[in-house]
Amino acid sequence: MGRGPGDAESDGPGVTGDSRRPRTRLVQAGRREEWTQGIVSPPVWRASTILFDSVAEMRAATPPRDGRLHYGRSGTPTSWALAEALTELEPGAAGTRLFPSGLAAIATALMTVLKPGDELLMVDSVYGPTRGFCDDVLARLGIATRYYDPLVGSGIEGLIGDSTRAIFLESPGSLTFEVQDVAAICAAAKSRGIVTLLDNTWATPLFFPAMAAGVDLSILACTKYIVGHADAMLGSVTATDEYWDRLTRTSRAFGQHAGPDDVWLASRGLRTLDVRLRRHGENALKGAHWLKEQPQVARVLHPALPDCPGHALWKRDFSGASGLFAFVLDGGDDADRSRLIDGLAFFGIGYSWGGFESLAVPADPQRVRSAAPWRAKGPLVRLHIGLEDADDLIEDLAAGLGRYRDPQ
Ligand SMILES: Cc1ncc(COP(=O)(O)O)c(C=O)c1O
Repeated sequence: MGRGPGDAESDGPGVTGDSRRPRTRLVQAGRREEWTQGIVSPPVWRASTILFDSVAEMRAATPPRDGRLHYGRSGTPTSWALAEALTELEPGAAGTRLFPSGLAAIATALMTVLKPGDELLMVDSVYGPTRGFCDDVLARLGIATRYYDPLVGSGIEGLIGDSTRAIFLESPGSLTFEVQDVAAICAAAKSRGIVTLLDNTWATPLFFPAMAAGVDLSILACTKYIVGHADAMLGSVTATDEYWDRLTRTSRAFGQHAGPDDVWLASRGLRTLDVRLRRHGENALKGAHWLKEQPQVARVLHPALPDCPGHALWKRDFSGASGLFAFVLDGGDDADRSRLIDGLAFFGIGYSWGGFESLAVPADPQRVRSAAPWRAKGPLVRLHIGLEDADDLIEDLAAGLGRYRDPQ
């Protein structure tokens, strides 16, 4: 839902000139009294049909508009509250739309800005299913995808061609953790009238306010840290004024709608995002430093470690690191890696991340890379570090590294 001083639908304080700090916004955002009636946590409104007193009133509520009840798919105070809260976290944003998953948010954002004949520049380290959407659906629509090295920086300028319409970033990459020069890429894009989209799921706007760096469409898989408890799927796209109407039209045309219970879980998760993210970050950094000292580990891929590609950019742009990182084993094969992972006591084996529990998964970036081949010799393990005691996790990993070297 849109918000801002120029937004006729909004009667709340605008983002521009809002001096509240991010943590205060996390607590207050989206909790308009007209939607909550004083209930602290914006409650769940479940709706498909909404009844009107007369045909005239029904007509007056049409077409759908945020903040006005119309039909379940057009939203209720539950969804408006979360959308407004996410908008408030991104200074410079005009509004946010919600989606049933992070991938649905990514797909709709891409469909908002691309048409047949266009070219998309896509970061090579992108989340696999995003790549899948480009290589399958966009290709079928006659939209070409060209992959670029995540470390290209201002060199992106040289890749922009006559048909390039959009540049997609994911920083850091969620398997290999290269940090991108978002500001340089956005500046180059702007000078050529090209739209930029960023998957900001790893950092969230709390650690990296994307629009301040020049991003036009900022995307979150809220499934991860916003929900934070591994019990709901949700996505969001936050847009600048320039793209807000187009995003809204595309999202409505696709019938995108997020279920109210999932939206409520995200709204609730949002309030504790700061404390959770900081603990995820502390635990992960402790684990990353420890792993770096282990002889069985060839490389640790964590943006806060000085040898991570793009570390200087992380230091320049981010106010924290979350709990997702990876390490590369010093040789061995898939069976060795599986032995390490299978016996872990405190790490679950499962897709996704961002919940309170730790996870460990195998990943093989070499299978998908095309612009910047992945050349590490050993297998890669991706960890999501949860809210457990970091020392327990480290002991668990120590035992795992022992198993990896010893097939017994
Ligand atoms: C970086 C990133 N973006 C997007 C997604 C997709 O989110 P969802 O699982 O909610 O569709 C994921 C999921 O793992 C992800 O890791």
